[in-house]
Amino acid sequence: MIPPACPTPLQVAAARGQLASTLVRMCGIVGYVGPQQAGDVVMEGLRRLEYRGYDSAGVAIVADGELHQRKKAGKLANLSAELSSAPLPASTIGMGHTRWATHGKPNDRNAHPHTSHTGHVAVVHNGIIENFAGLRDELESRGVEMSSDTDTEVVAHLVDESYERVPADHPTRLREAVRRVCNLLEGAFTLVITHAAEPDTIIGARRNSPLVAGVGDGEYFLGSDVAAFIAQTREAIELGQDQICELHRERGITVTTFDGGAVEPVHYTIDWDDAAAEKGGYDWFMLKEIAEQPAVVADTIRGRLTDTGGIALDEVRLSDQDFRDITKIFIIACGTSSYAGMIAKYAIEHWTRIPCEVELASEFRYRDPVLDRSTLVIAISQSGETMDTLMALRHAKSQHAKILGICNTVGSTIPRESDAVLYTRAGVEIAVASTKAFLAQIVACYLIALHLASVRGVKWGDEVAAIVDQIRSMPDAVERVLDTMEPVRTLARTELADVQQMLFLGRHVGYPIALEGALKLKELAYLHAEGFAAGELKHGPIALVSEGTPVVVVCPSPLGRDSLHSKVVSNIQEVRARGARTIVIAEEGDELVTPYADHVIRVPRCPVLLAPLVTAVPLQVLACEIAAAKGLDVDQPRNLAKSVTVE
Ligand code: F6R
Repeated sequence: MIPPACPTPLQVAAARGQLASTLVRMCGIVGYVGPQQAGDVVMEGLRRLEYRGYDSAGVAIVADGELHQRKKAGKLANLSAELSSAPLPASTIGMGHTRWATHGKPNDRNAHPHTSHTGHVAVVHNGIIENFAGLRDELESRGVEMSSDTDTEVVAHLVDESYERVPADHPTRLREAVRRVCNLLEGAFTLVITHAAEPDTIIGARRNSPLVAGVGDGEYFLGSDVAAFIAQTREAIELGQDQICELHRERGITVTTFDGGAVEPVHYTIDWDDAAAEKGGYDWFMLKEIAEQPAVVADTIRGRLTDTGGIALDEVRLSDQDFRDITKIFIIACGTSSYAGMIAKYAIEHWTRIPCEVELASEFRYRDPVLDRSTLVIAISQSGETMDTLMALRHAKSQHAKILGICNTVGSTIPRESDAVLYTRAGVEIAVASTKAFLAQIVACYLIALHLASVRGVKWGDEVAAIVDQIRSMPDAVERVLDTMEPVRTLARTELADVQQMLFLGRHVGYPIALEGALKLKELAYLHAEGFAAGELKHGPIALVSEGTPVVVVCPSPLGRDSLHSKVVSNIQEVRARGARTIVIAEEGDELVTPYADHVIRVPRCPVLLAPLVTAVPLQVLACEIAAAKGLDVDQPRNLAKSVTVE
């Protein structure tokens, strides 16, 4: 095996034997300076970022020349309770953190913020300081005592020391102190730092880990993503790689590089609705996000078809000729996004005749894929920050492939590093399990496939327009599915809430939907659930079927391609003959499956390649309802986080 182009932070850490004691995290980070009660603003930001991690949470503020902090293991509710019993003093500057731990115990001691030994500096951190062991040894040799197992703590001590070395009359003393420390650090990190002697300044810094700034009226925000401050302001600033951002009550926001060079900040307007970060009357964000899908599908198509039948990409650094020169496509993504990629493969190969492979981003670069200038790599990511996808993208770039990002988060790293971008317009997705972003990704993939077909002259403009018209009818179709979900809810609550395992079968585009149905159930209801290509069943998995095993089958249209429908009906009979309880997702009017189905879930008739937009929905509802019936936290399943910024 050829080694990857560059070792990952984890590989480097592992090679240095540091991993055992290193805490790796992806986490949510908030910073604030302004006239409001900082503790309240920070807690509100953390509430909106909790989907990024919920193993522990903490907040720190500066008041009367002193740092005050509270931190607690477990969900944010624990920290809220702590704050109720021990409120923080009034303050106009604050920071907070909600953590997702991959190594080390998520206890109070390891929760952020971390403070320096003098108690002057507080730091919250997302990422991994690869060279922390050496830095810690140096600090300890100078007599500094560590009070946590984290790599983050070294940053607090180093900034404290560095601050003392910067002349007291330096106009931007804290920023300068942080800048010097950033140049000592290796690895991936987002840092937010404050000093007890600087009640008007908060500093953010980023390398390989996300951070955005928000600009309000005389107040400024930092967040791992815009959800942290969306309720406060729509004006945001993108922060680039190796940049430091100073938020000062009077001076506003100043951005510099780690070398101290001035950076002209890039402002943009957040077009997400604040209401998107509220449950809006639903019990769970996931239910709300499932219900938003018709609008999301419509939004993702809106205004994107050009007069010539092409697709208007949001950011294009690729010419039509580049698209014509493509000889091969790779789609790289993780989890649910990879299933959108699998669906895209069917559409791309059928509509464009370009060979297309779908690869899990975490595997891609380790098998030395064959890439060159004529390869298009499509990176699909809701968050735009998934480290596996980002590292795969960078590998593809190093091999001179062209990169097209399909992403939901404007200004995130994956679109910034792509040659062209199509944004999915799903709006903020809060529930950890992806639903509406998945449907938007599928639509975006269709648009890209049609763009390629059009630019390369494989399809005429009117053929492309005809398919786009079919896609335009899909929001109504999704709406109709949503209107008929009551029997699915009942089934979930009455018959399926107590089952131990569930199987999902599908063929063609129904196969990735089966995988997605199983993934939703695993992550939400903690059930053993497996998705299979229905044809593979007889090659082994059918042994899992016993009396009463629920098997969900995604049945294609009887009007669809070749004999797929009859093949799937045979598969249903095979599992039924072995005692399975069959739950069949079938098109309206398809009576051929009825005799073999214990339960039929009807979806509207639609073109074969577009069917995933309707067949995915009942599976989302099923998983959500089973989890709710089991009394589980639907929005924040155990062990998971929304944005996976570690490999
Ligand atoms: C499952 C889910 C995950 C994500 C995966 C990739 O419900 O949400 O499997 O799809 O972690 O995340 P993004 O799309 O942000 O790259």
